[in-house]
Amino acid sequence: MKLRRQLAAAAATAAVLMLVPSAVAAAGGEKGRADDSLRALGARQDLRIGTAVDDAHLGSDAAYTKIVADQFSVVTAENAMKWESVEPARGTYDWAAADRLVRFAQQNDQSVRGHTLLWHNQLPSWLTTGVADGTIGTAELRDILRKHVTDEVTRYRGKIWQWDVANEVFANSWDPNPLPNGLNGDDFWIKNLGEGVIADVFRWAHQADPKALLFYNDYNIAGQDGTNAKFQAVHDFFAKLVAQGVPVNGIGEQGHLDTQYGFDAQRFQADLQSYGDLGLKVAVTEADVRTFVNNSTEQVPTSQLAAFAQPFEFSEMLKGCQLVRQCISFTAWGVYDGDSWIPGTFAGTGYGLLYDVDMKPKPAYYALQQDLALAAGNARHNGK
Ligand code: XIL
Repeated sequence: MKLRRQLAAAAATAAVLMLVPSAVAAAGGEKGRADDSLRALGARQDLRIGTAVDDAHLGSDAAYTKIVADQFSVVTAENAMKWESVEPARGTYDWAAADRLVRFAQQNDQSVRGHTLLWHNQLPSWLTTGVADGTIGTAELRDILRKHVTDEVTRYRGKIWQWDVANEVFANSWDPNPLPNGLNGDDFWIKNLGEGVIADVFRWAHQADPKALLFYNDYNIAGQDGTNAKFQAVHDFFAKLVAQGVPVNGIGEQGHLDTQYGFDAQRFQADLQSYGDLGLKVAVTEADVRTFVNNSTEQVPTSQLAAFAQPFEFSEMLKGCQLVRQCISFTAWGVYDGDSWIPGTFAGTGYGLLYDVDMKPKPAYYALQQDLALAAGNARHNGK
């Protein structure tokens, strides 16, 4: 009798155990995903794990496409939603690549981070030339910006989870012309339209899609600069906008690290928390950790210790986000080292992403997988 009861109890426990993975995997559209994928593990704590996607590889490269679909629950267009991509000639829109990504995301139960509406880089030359030679004056520039923001946000209304509304408008310690509130006085938009344009661009985006979460996105704004001055400027500026009722919903820390510099993981988490304490959401939006490498093709780290620092810093960024309740997504800036902006931008460096040049998962991938599994409560021990 006793044995039978024990057997019944064991069977019930087994049934529960068998049920758990599929029940859990079903949460957050993760049904049918491998239980140890980054996206499925992230879903168990309502955290989306993302990647930037390069339109040149999506669809045409089967291995790349499979990684994006299997591992990530949120995607960002690496370039396809930037102004020079969507409006290469004045008044002529080309939405093809951006549309492809949004469709792909819908087919794969993924959210989309829209990137980006107001930025000084990757502007079409008709715009920058027109401003430089005076054929586009201030009033017209403002109308052009308002139309751009309205048209793009309207096109994807209801389909974008988070928009990076404004990108990189604060001064770094080395920039020559910071404004008293820390905005970069040399920024194309601030210089031409004044600092009020930041609040306006959030208002215009909100009008076009009231449900999208509207983010400010920047680098070195969570613990990476020695004095933390850039963090403080962003924090105080957006505290004011929030108090004024400007529709800002979140702060995105890009998370571009380099192992040659220090990284203060505690500061990183504390800064994310401070943004969260303003009532804002938080996201890590462009994580990568570069290091010196032998060459840009093989991307073997030149220092053995850097090979350990790389996954460590990735893991510290993820854990910082995990421990801040308001942090809703963690996105890597690209899928694999063979297709990363790093070698072309920071000479001599590479090895920045989660997959190597052959698209094999790296130690950084496994570090994130472990962090997510631990947070999902996968480890229960009987060591009383
Ligand atoms: C980069 C892309 O990865 C490159 O392909 C492109 O040539 C330049 O822009 N901060 C940002 C991103 O907000 O949009 C940038 O992406 C990287 C830095």
